Amino acid sequence: MNQGNGLLTRESLRAFPKIELHRHLEGTFSLPTLHRMALRNGLSFPENIEEFRTHVQFPKDSDPDFLKFLSLFKNDWYRSLDDVAEITAASVRDFANDGLFYIELRFSPEHFAYHNGFDRAEVTRTVVAAADSAAREQGLEIRYLITFNRKQEESEMIKLYELIRDLGLSRIVGIDLAGDETSYPPQLFVRLFSLIAADGAFRSTIHAGEITPAKQIWDAIDLLHASRIGHGVAAIHDPDLQKLLSEREIVLEQCITSNFQTGSWTDESSHPMGKLHSLGVPVTINSDDPFIQDTDLTEDYAKAIRHFGFNVDDLVTLNLRALLGAFISNGEKQNLQKRYLAKVAEFRSNYGV
Ligand code: HPA
Ligand code: ZN
Repeated sequence: MNQGNGLLTRESLRAFPKIELHRHLEGTFSLPTLHRMALRNGLSFPENIEEFRTHVQFPKDSDPDFLKFLSLFKNDWYRSLDDVAEITAASVRDFANDGLFYIELRFSPEHFAYHNGFDRAEVTRTVVAAADSAAREQGLEIRYLITFNRKQEESEMIKLYELIRDLGLSRIVGIDLAGDETSYPPQLFVRLFSLIAADGAFRSTIHAGEITPAKQIWDAIDLLHASRIGHGVAAIHDPDLQKLLSEREIVLEQCITSNFQTGSWTDESSHPMGKLHSLGVPVTINSDDPFIQDTDLTEDYAKAIRHFGFNVDDLVTLNLRALLGAFISNGEKQNLQKRYLAKVAEFRSNYGV
């Protein structure tokens, strides 16, 4: 292991300032708040929180399974917009445990609206207002990505996209495509993502090459104008693609624990992140769905150190890569980079690393 790692305890790693590009609000809920809400809203779940946990998180003893993982995203927890605000605020408050400095938090307005038929614009404003205020409390820089689930009809997606665009919420900076990439390839969404690119209000990140071959990553870039790729583990098999990702600085938002649970990569110790990093491909460390996964971002940092020998310098490099790939202006990046490096200096001095 590289110099300095011996001094990185779990506690210090928790405090390490982190920039995260790939986390789903629907997958990062505060467990106690969700449990209280479920019981209050008459959902049939155990009163004991540890039993509740076994119903809503991916079982530790389960074989990896992509569709089982996706099936855990229930969307009938909420009965009012206050419920949506409450679960959002409680969940964002928990981010303080991971030492986050900047996050692009993604959410699906459809997820929060679907069960009750809430107005999508109201839901979006509610989530952003609740998360903004919880982020402000902890001095966290937050931006938002809107997730579209591949199961939806493209024509419906276009309506929702236009509604989001016309809200004019400046902290919404990008669009994400998630869900079952095996059954719903990039070819189905060309009209939507061409429109997004032509409008120029948002950048796009596409879940691709998570459990499908590298070809889907090419298609996400060529057909859907992806500026970043969610997961992209399949890039490890394609040197031409690695070259393209490096040259065009297309960041891979990688998620070690998630990739294990979905069956995207079955051995964490040989996850492609370490090799791709050494080849110069811009990789970043992300949590994806820490609530569903029963983990946190710090755990994924610990795994990256353990399996790939990353030291503090590597972690800083990966975080600066993440900032370069953020969907914000160059001026904002420069300003945040200065503040980020000051946080790193404070961290190094506090922990002697
Ligand atoms: N893949 C696809 N869709 C998702 C994921 C994922 O890992 N997490 C939440 N939605
Ligand atoms: Zn994801």
